[in-house]
Amino acid sequence: MLNEIENEPGLKPRLADRSLFPNLQYRAYLAHCSIAPISLPVQRRIGEAVASYTRLGSAAFAEWLPYRTVLRERLARLSGAVAENIALVPNTTQGVLSVALCFPWRQGDRVLSFCGEFPANITPWQRAAELYSLDLQLLPLERVPQPDVLGALSEALQDKSRGAVRLVAVSLVQFQSGLLMPIKEIAELCHRYGAALCVDGIQGLGVVECQAKAWGVDFLACGSHKWLMGAEGAGFLYIAEEWLPRLRQVMAGWLSHEHTFDFLSEPESGHLDYSRPLRRDATFVELGTGNTLGYLALEASTSILEELGRENIYAHVCAYNDLLEAGLVQRGFASLRSKPASGILSVIPPAEGLNTAQWAAALGERGILCSNPDGLLRFAPHWHNSLDEVGYVLECVEALQKRNR
Ligand SMILES: Cc1ncc(COP(=O)(O)O)c(C=O)c1O
Repeated sequence: MLNEIENEPGLKPRLADRSLFPNLQYRAYLAHCSIAPISLPVQRRIGEAVASYTRLGSAAFAEWLPYRTVLRERLARLSGAVAENIALVPNTTQGVLSVALCFPWRQGDRVLSFCGEFPANITPWQRAAELYSLDLQLLPLERVPQPDVLGALSEALQDKSRGAVRLVAVSLVQFQSGLLMPIKEIAELCHRYGAALCVDGIQGLGVVECQAKAWGVDFLACGSHKWLMGAEGAGFLYIAEEWLPRLRQVMAGWLSHEHTFDFLSEPESGHLDYSRPLRRDATFVELGTGNTLGYLALEASTSILEELGRENIYAHVCAYNDLLEAGLVQRGFASLRSKPASGILSVIPPAEGLNTAQWAAALGERGILCSNPDGLLRFAPHWHNSLDEVGYVLECVEALQKRNR
């Protein structure tokens, strides 16, 4: 099926070309930071898998299993991680939670994160803080262009009035402001002061650069339905090699054991052995039966990203946002975009006129899908958005401003 798709000329992905989204209703789909639309190759892959389970039931499982290895390799290339150290999990939250619960904490350890992080990267640390008596501290992060992330972090890491920092949890890209966090520098700082770094990659992977291993990221969790353009309910967790023997396996399921399938495949009885050791590789957190359709969707969507080239996608998205940002600023919006930019352009509308929810709704009625998190208006184009759309978006903005004056 994959070959068939690749050989069909109409299904070749091209930057600024939405022919892989023939049914997409919005004229400007700018919500990839929420949920990406499903492309034709992804839709076909899911359909193929459903058809195969329809025909074969249980026998279809083995047919699709090898795609998980291909998926891990693609995810490793897109994130600079190591394929063998990637576990497939349902979403970002469960990746982060696995780290939060299994980290070898000592009572009183400090955990740092930032105000304004998405709750998926806060709740797991709050749970760990409660369970293991940790000191969770959220550092202020000003919602302005170019906030001093490293200064705030460096100061907190050196704060002798509290215990030692064992772990820092940050997003690769902040979901509200679109701030691209300086992960390489953050990792260097963390390691200088003996702290591990856990990154929530969902607002960046697929569009911005990430070199998880080379930069020294210890843990990287990510879901598939935003910039990776897969379906909901699939994600991954990368665990740096050196942490594998140190994690406490407080989470484990039937798939976490060594030779876990033997009792289902060996000809004779006696393999139902509950005392098999837990695996020490990253996949011990996979626990139980996984989301085959979601992983297949993600394999198909990441193959498109790889074909287009992550750097080319980034340049395209930046060019789109440059144009849109300039037009919005001209019309009185304040931009929160920092340099280097991420794929997200967040703005604050002029004080007079519509509020952000009204802006998002009014633009939605005009075929422009954006989002309005926490008092901001947020635009998030991807590889298939054409720069030609920007003129239309700005026309609509101007018309709405005139109407509401
Ligand atoms: C930074 C960030 N992390 C995580 C999530 C979602 O987490 P999950 O994949 O667990 O649903 C979002 C948005 O939905 C997000 O913006």
